[in-house]
Amino acid sequence: MTQPFDILERKRAGQGLSTDDIRAVAAGASDGSWSEAQLGAFLMAAAIHGLDGDETRALTVAMLESGETWDLAAQIPTLVDKHSTGGVADTVSLILSPILAACDVPVVMLTGRALGHTGGTADKLESIPGLRLDFDRAGCCRLLDEVGMAIGIATAEIAPADRCLYRLRDQTATIDSLPLITASIVSKKLATGASALVFDVKTGSGAFLPRQEDAESLAQLLVSTVEGLGRRSSALITDMSQPLGEWIGHGAEVLATLEALEGRGAADLMAVTYALGVEVAALAGCDRSSADLEAAVSSGRARQRFDRWAELQGAEAAWLASPECELAPIEYALEGPADGYLSGVDNRRLGMLLSDACRAGGSTIDQGVAVHYRKRLGDSVESGEELARVYLRREDPALMAAFRECFEISPEGLEPPTLLRTRITAE
Ligand code: URA
Repeated sequence: MTQPFDILERKRAGQGLSTDDIRAVAAGASDGSWSEAQLGAFLMAAAIHGLDGDETRALTVAMLESGETWDLAAQIPTLVDKHSTGGVADTVSLILSPILAACDVPVVMLTGRALGHTGGTADKLESIPGLRLDFDRAGCCRLLDEVGMAIGIATAEIAPADRCLYRLRDQTATIDSLPLITASIVSKKLATGASALVFDVKTGSGAFLPRQEDAESLAQLLVSTVEGLGRRSSALITDMSQPLGEWIGHGAEVLATLEALEGRGAADLMAVTYALGVEVAALAGCDRSSADLEAAVSSGRARQRFDRWAELQGAEAAWLASPECELAPIEYALEGPADGYLSGVDNRRLGMLLSDACRAGGSTIDQGVAVHYRKRLGDSVESGEELARVYLRREDPALMAAFRECFEISPEGLEPPTLLRTRITAE
């Protein structure tokens, strides 16, 4: 086998690596045979010189094969998955899965924990009393068989090479390399073996990559990598320059999810959910219109699917029958400082402040800390009118001042941002 030194020397000089070279890197990460210095050097060279399509696919496959692969599409050919690059108050996965399941489009999603300013779906779901998120392949198949949906958490057995490289990327300033992001996301997503994978790539101040050009480049690379590995894929670029829906905060977002499944979802949240639903169903070869998806909500079928799935995963039936979220008791209203229009939201900072406030009491997440986002970009605002309401566990004027700075009011109106931007396919 080629020595790490030789591989690193070639990548540092900007030369391409073979599939075997890339396999050696992933094996070195998962079995510990490469030192962290060597892995860090690989990441830096890859971030500087990039990886071409072949190298990106090779790294994806090598990281995928470093762990368990379930190949579920062999049993369920129409199985789909949807992945979001992450945002503030993004609960689309939780709303969409039961809607698709109720429309006979089976869905599997292995979700993750919070990353930076973006909330993690797995963390949010833990606000449901009793709910468990870990399952193995057999457990996943049981859920798909009984309810047509399986939302869980990516375990240590899934793509362990990525787990190691991701941690080192965080330490080596190589997080925002597009090929490294692509290999990281796709290796974990392909582990379940869904037949079609749709990406919701966010753009705007609360997105991982705020500039639309970067979001489109990432979407193209994600889609071409998945298609190059024999699965169908497409992406929608969607707006994240303000929170999606009205609530940010773990427990509050789950409650808003259940309300959405009862037909009381915020317009923007539902528009993104339905657009992704139509896309993902079409890719799986089972066309469903937006009206079909809406009917799954209005008939109560989607909510029933969610409850059944949650019960099978241990959620307390009494809680599901009358769900509640006890909001943190210290309330602050953020008021408009003058008449005008809401012209900007520092969505990344908003997400980060909330994420820090949720963890202020230690490592466990405070499910009751929340922000109720009451105005939207472009809305008119009167002096003293409430823009948002923050729910905290303790008095914190400095934190409140920081929350206030996230909102910008201008005398002139502006066009609200376009929610659904671009559709990216392999062509
Ligand atoms: N999510 C991942 O899993 N990996 C990345 O690199 C970025 C987002």
